[in-house]
Amino acid sequence: MPKILFIEHNGTQHEVEVSEGTTVMQAAVSNMVPGIEGDCGGLCACGTCHVYIPPEWKDKCGEPEELEQAILDFAFDVNESSRLGCQIEITDELDGITVNLPDRQY
Ligand code: FES
Repeated sequence: MPKILFIEHNGTQHEVEVSEGTTVMQAAVSNMVPGIEGDCGGLCACGTCHVYIPPEWKDKCGEPEELEQAILDFAFDVNESSRLGCQIEITDELDGITVNLPDRQY
């Protein structure tokens, strides 16, 4: 099963293992990784699953769709690494990905 390394804003690391098809948001929430909320349940409507994807993983995650980009506009501290965790589905290709978490979601 693919592994994800979540790194909180304070540097705390959490390595989780998830089935393929799980989203980054689901992986965090179901493993009680703090710093990611997922209030809308993955409907790309709340922006509280905002994460930062390091440059070396960006291409493998694909491009954000228009709706994701629009919701990201309402998130805090957005930069060029920003993505919504509910819109990134974990595949074997993403095994070992590092996901950085923002300081806050609200
Ligand atoms: S969980 Fe709401 S936008 Fe991702």
